[in-house]
Amino acid sequence: MVHRVVFLGPPGAGKGTQASLIARELGIPHLSTGDILRAAVAAKTPLGLEADGHMRSGGLVPDPLVLEILHERLDQPDAKVGYLLDGFPRNLAQAEALGKFSEVERVVSLEISPDLLVQRLSERRICPKCQSVYNLSTQPPRVTDRCDRDGTALVQRPDDRPEAVTMRLKVYAEQTAPLLEYYRKRRLLREVDASGTPDEVTARIRKVLA
Ligand code: AP5
Ligand code: MG
Repeated sequence: MVHRVVFLGPPGAGKGTQASLIARELGIPHLSTGDILRAAVAAKTPLGLEADGHMRSGGLVPDPLVLEILHERLDQPDAKVGYLLDGFPRNLAQAEALGKFSEVERVVSLEISPDLLVQRLSERRICPKCQSVYNLSTQPPRVTDRCDRDGTALVQRPDDRPEAVTMRLKVYAEQTAPLLEYYRKRRLLREVDASGTPDEVTARIRKVLA
């Protein structure tokens, strides 16, 4: 089994949904830079105050801030056994920085059509407390608008507004998509069809990680 894994994929591909399941199965922590940044924004820490504007517009948070977060997180004891990175790296500079301090074993690219992404993002709701992810049509909560885990009222992410979604898709195409070639050249890339039900996608991911 691999223990140092990266999930790549455009906004809404299902990285977070799949990463939380697969990380549990592999016994490694699920590290989402997006989740860490959203928690910092909610707590109004200096990092959160700086990241907020970049995130709302759909742009990337500057590399030095994100690299600091990642170093700190990977230094924690639970990450000694490995990690499943979701949302990092997002550009070549981040991929090179990661390569300097850890040897990635597998990179899974979640492949999906732009139409499905826009639909998934417009219907997404999240729990602001525990960050659980729902979808109004495909993964609704048991009680309308309430988190299954802690009952908190669900919210829409500010960057799921249409203008920010357009920007995020552009940033992905320009800055993150080149990483597919970067990891393909290093023979680490595995492409997975991310359409279909969450269970179908999980089964495809399990196959490429075996
Ligand atoms: P981040 O939080 O990483 O967002 P993202 O990459 O845009 O991806 P998403 O979280 O939107 O989508 P996802 O692929 O996780 O899909 P999900 O599983 O939720 O980053 C946010 C921002 O933070 C960035 O824009 C940037 O500003 C900043 N940031 C983060 N990392 C950074 C970095 N390294 N460097 C610089 N800046 C950084 O699923 C989406 C929806 O679809 C949900 O509703 C879900 O229920 C549903 N769904 C999932 N799978 C299925 C399925 N198979 N069938 C039907 N519905 C499904
Ligand atoms: Mg996510």
